[in-house]
Amino acid sequence: MTILVTGGRGHVARAVVQQLLDVGEKVRLASRNPTAVTAPDSVEVVGADLTRADSLIPALAGVSKVFLYADPAGIDNFVEAAQKADVEHVVLLSASPVTGANPGANPLAVMHKAAEQALLDSELSWTFLRPATFATNTLQWAYSIRTEGVVRAAYPEAYNDAIHEADIAAVAVRALTEDGHVGRAYLMTGPESVTQRQQVEAISAAIGRPVEFVELTPAEYRETLARWGGGLVDQLIRYLAENDGVPMPVINTVELVTGRPARTFDEWARDHADDFR
Ligand SMILES: NC(=O)c1ccc[n+]([C@@H]2O[C@H](COP(=O)([O-])OP(=O)(O)OC[C@H]3O[C@@H](n4cnc5c(N)ncnc54)[C@H](OP(=O)(O)O)[C@@H]3O)[C@@H](O)[C@H]2O)c1
Repeated sequence: MTILVTGGRGHVARAVVQQLLDVGEKVRLASRNPTAVTAPDSVEVVGADLTRADSLIPALAGVSKVFLYADPAGIDNFVEAAQKADVEHVVLLSASPVTGANPGANPLAVMHKAAEQALLDSELSWTFLRPATFATNTLQWAYSIRTEGVVRAAYPEAYNDAIHEADIAAVAVRALTEDGHVGRAYLMTGPESVTQRQQVEAISAAIGRPVEFVELTPAEYRETLARWGGGLVDQLIRYLAENDGVPMPVINTVELVTGRPARTFDEWARDHADDFR
C-alpha cells in the first residue's frame, strides 16, 4: 500500500520520503507545486493543495497512511477526503507549543491545535508529532553567512531545543510503519539546549570559516523580520526574550521511539554545511 507524504517541498517531508524508501515503503509525494519538487525516481509526485478539496481525491486514491503537514485552512477537506478514501492512519506534523502554558496566545499553537482537533473529531486513526524548534530555522542565516560571514539577530544567549528534521522524520516513519503509535502524541526536542551564539559557532566550525554574531536590539531585529507579519514576529521575539540565558529542558522521545539518540546541532550543521558555504 502507498504512503502519501504532504508538504513535498518541506524539509521534514523530504526526510520522511527518504527514510520511508530506506525501509522499502511505496511513497507518493504531494506538493502544491509538484514541478518544484525533487524526489527519487521511485517516488510518484502529485499536485495537491489541502485548501482545494478536488486535488485531494486523486492524491489519496489507494493510500493507506498519510504524513500530514498541519494546515487548518484545509484540514476539514483533508479529513473528509481521507475518510472517504479509507485511509488507515495519519501522522500529523504538529508543534510543541500546543502543550505550552498559554497556547491561545501563540499563533503557531492555535494553528496546530486546530489541526489536531479536526483529527480528534474525525473517525481517522492518528499520531501527533509535536517537535520543538526546527534546526532548519537557522537556514534564515544562510544568505548573510554565505555573502558576509555574519549573523545579525537579537538575544545571542537565548537558548532553544533545536531538533534535526531527520529525527522528526525517524519518529514519523516509526509511526507510519509500526504498531503501537495510534493515539499517541510525541513531544520531541533535540538532545541539548543550545544558544543562538553556540549555533553560529557550530555552523562556523562546520564550514571552516569565521562567522560573526552581530547583536541587534529587539527593535532592530523586529525590523529585519517585518516581511513575516506581526503575530509571528511578536511570538519569536517573546520566545527569545523568555529563553535569554535560560537553558531549556530536553526530552529523549526520539531515542525512546527510534532506539537512536537525537542528533546534536553540531551534527545538523555538518549535514547542512553546503547550505552555508
Ligand atoms: N519551524 C519550526 O521551528 C517548527 C517547529 C514545530 C513545528 N513546525 C511546523 O512544521 C511545519 C513545517 O514548518 P517549516 O517552517 O519548517 O516549513 P517548510 O519545511 O518550509 O515546509 C512547509 C511545507 O508546508 C506545505 N504546505 C503549506 N501549505 C500547504 C497547503 N495548503 N497544501 C499542501 N501543503 C502545504 C508546503 O508544501 P508544498 O508547498 O510543497 O505543497 C511546504 O513545503 C509547519 O506546520 C510548522 O508550523 C515548525
